[in-house]
Amino acid sequence: MIEFHDVSYTYQQRTPYEFQALNLVTTSFEQGRYYAIIGKTGSGKSTLIQHLNGLLKPSRGKLQILDVPVTRKTKDKALHEVRKRIGMVFQFPESQLFEQTVEHEILFGPKNFGLDLTKARQKAVTLLEKLNLDAEQMMKQSPFLLSGGQMRKVAIVAILAMDPDILVLDEPTAGLDPKSKRQVMHLFKEIQLKEHKTIILVTHDMNDVAMYADEVKVMSKGRVMNSQPPEKLFRDTEYVQSLHLELPDIVQLQRDIESRLYIQFNQLAMTEEQFVEMYKRWRDEHER
Ligand SMILES: Nc1ncnc2c1ncn2[C@@H]1O[C@H](COP(=O)(O)OP(=O)(O)OP(=O)(O)O)[C@@H](O)[C@H]1O
Ligand SMILES: [Mg+2]
Repeated sequence: MIEFHDVSYTYQQRTPYEFQALNLVTTSFEQGRYYAIIGKTGSGKSTLIQHLNGLLKPSRGKLQILDVPVTRKTKDKALHEVRKRIGMVFQFPESQLFEQTVEHEILFGPKNFGLDLTKARQKAVTLLEKLNLDAEQMMKQSPFLLSGGQMRKVAIVAILAMDPDILVLDEPTAGLDPKSKRQVMHLFKEIQLKEHKTIILVTHDMNDVAMYADEVKVMSKGRVMNSQPPEKLFRDTEYVQSLHLELPDIVQLQRDIESRLYIQFNQLAMTEEQFVEMYKRWRDEHER
């Protein structure tokens, strides 16, 4: 559905500030899956995903996004359909709010793309309520009078109201309180599972990677180093440490229990439920 072929990207080309942020990236994304993109700060994650809706175009190489081939020379006009179908929540989206009311803010995208505004509004109201906000009251407010967390939720809802097929999220929950964070993360997973949308999440939170992702792409120095299911990545403790990443809490728990009991489960649990299942099975066998 999305393919990168040897994509390189250089910021401020031919200036003293020139910096190559992507270096020959070849990778792909399939429909309906949940991807996590991880890697140290400055490794190129935001640069990579800004290619997904043509905000950045490759300096070299090419991309295929849905049916649209994208190179350095692709015109913005050719990207209209791509931008309509790929919703992007940027790092700190609240800094991009600019309309007078939350309602205008939310309907800006749908209007721009000629979508059904009644439907988009209805969707937004349902989503705001799901995120524990008083939707109708909030719609009339100025976005600038909201708290940081409320602004973040509004910015996310504004993207979801467009009903994109692919949702690209750049650290969408950084700075949210734990409960809001959980609500927002659950919402994304629900959208993937119930509506068969593709989710691409940039995150530094390994618990989220374990809990939600089907596949995780590791970036380092402008390259995508590998792409694999989280249980495979986290099995290699040394590699995870070499990336200066922590293991997810659930994996750490499993490793602690294994070393205390001098055992090793043949599976690595990614969620509490999986762990409990696995542990019960082991205990039943052990007691016989
Ligand atoms: N406008 C720019 N001009 C020059 N260099 C830039 C620009 N934007 C980003 N860079 C550089 O490109 C590299 C990759 O940046 P990018 O924002 O993609 O990293 P990231 O992996 O998203 O990091 P973080 O985890 O901190 O968000 C960094 O070294 C950064 O300094
Ligand atoms: Mg970033």
